[in-house]
Amino acid sequence: MSKVIVVAGARPNFIKIAPLMAEFKKHKQIESILVHTGQHYDEDMSKVFFDDLGIPHPDINLEVGSKSHAEQTAEIMKRFEPFLKKESPDFVLVVGDVNSTIACALTAVKLGIKVIHVEAGLRSFDRNMPEEINRVLTDAISDFLFITEERAKDNLIREGISEDKIHFVGNVMIDTLLKCKEKSEKSTILKDLVITPKNYAMLTLHRPSNVDCQDTLANIFEALGEISKHIKIIFPVHPRTKKAIEAHDAIRNTQYDNINFIDPLGYLDSLKLMSEARLVLTDSGGIQEETTVLGIPCITIRKNTERPVTITQGTNVIVGSDKKKIIKEALSKLDKSNFDTKIPKFWDGNAASRVVKIILDNEK
Ligand code: UD1
Repeated sequence: MSKVIVVAGARPNFIKIAPLMAEFKKHKQIESILVHTGQHYDEDMSKVFFDDLGIPHPDINLEVGSKSHAEQTAEIMKRFEPFLKKESPDFVLVVGDVNSTIACALTAVKLGIKVIHVEAGLRSFDRNMPEEINRVLTDAISDFLFITEERAKDNLIREGISEDKIHFVGNVMIDTLLKCKEKSEKSTILKDLVITPKNYAMLTLHRPSNVDCQDTLANIFEALGEISKHIKIIFPVHPRTKKAIEAHDAIRNTQYDNINFIDPLGYLDSLKLMSEARLVLTDSGGIQEETTVLGIPCITIRKNTERPVTITQGTNVIVGSDKKKIIKEALSKLDKSNFDTKIPKFWDGNAASRVVKIILDNEK
């Protein structure tokens, strides 16, 4: 019997751990314990995902909340360590690239506990992104590195990680999407927002590089103002972005008639909104992958992506935060109706079962 502690802290983590928790529960040889670090804590950033995705209630919530990077990372480590000592698991499983990921991986490895990283090897090669630091460091101390796309392996090998630790299993976030797609059809979000399929664009924006710099944010909003003359924009606003908008006089005082600012959405409503959109504008990592599978054109308001397969095989284009480029790409997408997309290898709904099989095989 092995014991694994699964860690989740921020919104995208919940979507990734859902299929893993479900898969662990199928195997009697493995006991899974769920730790919520409390990095995200608002109901619409956390609880609604547990409800929508049927994730079991966490065994413990470390309730760390929002802090500076150093304080948040340190506080998670401080609160996680006694729990790890008490539980003494064989493995700690972390997902993605948020502060909770590196904090818990580092705490575990220092206690001699094996670390499993799901969604390893992605690289934007932009060390100004906090997530890039989290990715590189988590991968460097992990024992099992589960990758979502083939190029991730090259990144890891280049960093000196031994090949036998790397396993190409596919994408657990897409496991969740495929499982929930039918259920999301029942969402009333389009009716609630009084919109119809293909008559709106969906926007998400929360990267510090986009929202924490006033000039960049203003530039993006000028582009959005222009695009919204051609199509209605539905914008579920992340709390970081809400604060940034409230602090920005010019944006706060502008009337954007065709942009609908709404509260963050739960998983099923968000999936429905994305599936029926004519176009998605985003700076999220996960949404680049989800639109690839859904075949919805995606414009990424970033200078780079750590998920290149969404460009080579999917619908994604990178435009940075330049106003003209954002407008040009959005308008050209609105003119087109067919978008080629190929589903990347192993993005087939079975990634979590591959992960668990490899862990179990290793225990034999
Ligand atoms: C974090 C992740 C990011 C991920 C994103 C998904 C890191 C470094 N960043 O960014 O990779 O894409 O989550 O959402 O881990 N806040 C609330 N309520 C909440 C959570 C946050 O109001 O439930 C506000 C707080 O003011 C906080 C700010 O949002 O200061 C930012 O939260 P934080 O978790 O630090 O980073 P995110 O921008 O959410």
